[in-house]
Amino acid sequence: MIGNGKGNGRSDGKKGRSGRSYRGKAGLTRQPKKMRGRKVSSQRWLARQLNDPFVAEAKSRGFRSRAALKLEQIDDRFRLFQPGMAIVDLGCAPGGWMQVASMRTRLGQGLARLVGIDLLETEIILDADIFVGDIMDNAMLVRVREAVGGAADGVLSDLAAATTGHRLTDHLRTTALLEAALDFALEILKKDGFFLAKCFRGGAERSVLDVMKRNFTTVRHVKPTASRQESVESYVLATGFHGDGLSNIGEKLALNDDDAGSEKTDDGRGFRPI
Ligand SMILES: C[S@@+](CC[C@H](N)C(=O)[O-])C[C@H]1O[C@@H](n2cnc3c(N)ncnc32)[C@H](O)[C@@H]1O
Repeated sequence: MIGNGKGNGRSDGKKGRSGRSYRGKAGLTRQPKKMRGRKVSSQRWLARQLNDPFVAEAKSRGFRSRAALKLEQIDDRFRLFQPGMAIVDLGCAPGGWMQVASMRTRLGQGLARLVGIDLLETEIILDADIFVGDIMDNAMLVRVREAVGGAADGVLSDLAAATTGHRLTDHLRTTALLEAALDFALEILKKDGFFLAKCFRGGAERSVLDVMKRNFTTVRHVKPTASRQESVESYVLATGFHGDGLSNIGEKLALNDDDAGSEKTDDGRGFRPI
């Protein structure tokens, strides 16, 4: 039953057919249709989607993903994109970040370059190059270099592995993707370039952050308001690429962090300190 926008009659705390109330902690007021037969986790996901204002906004503005709003918020704060830039988007499907990057670099005017990579197909983005494949495949780096015309001004990574529900496993998988994305960025960024990547906080990401601090002037954590507060997801933004660290990430990760650079925690408008 879809709610009436006034509380859906659940304020009495009664539970639905699934045995769970969708009010309570998350303050949700609408329930998805056809709950029967769905796993509880899927019911909760659906209910959350229905009640999420960012889902509604992304849809109404024609974005392919809710994640597009996160990138917009980060860019509104840090002004990463400039017209004419060359940008690489790792894990680009379904294409929400590509839409934002395309608009903000004015891809249509002909000077900018935008390249996306994903294991999954991504619907076309006008004037962008999109490759289906694994970012860990060495051949991909060669293809992307060709497509951006050498080096990139910015590398984006919203890479995420399918979650298992086991927090530590999910954290380690996402951290492995963060490491692979950083490795890719170190190989393709121009001097003063930036790297923005999803990062599930949980401890294992420390050594990857240390490598960033050696190779960029500033490394900060950012959590846009469109990133769910209850989620361990955050983003790490590294700016001012100088590449003074070692060229092989395996060696970098083996180092201790004695000479690590600065790491800032941003508390600017629209961002929560972590
Ligand atoms: C959260 S989604 C990205 C959403 C995207 N930023 C948007 O706004 O539409 C994460 C993506 O990472 C991709 N991915 C995960 N591992 C990958 C890998 N090794 N190589 C390429 N893509 C990968 C997944 O297929 C998935 O589409």
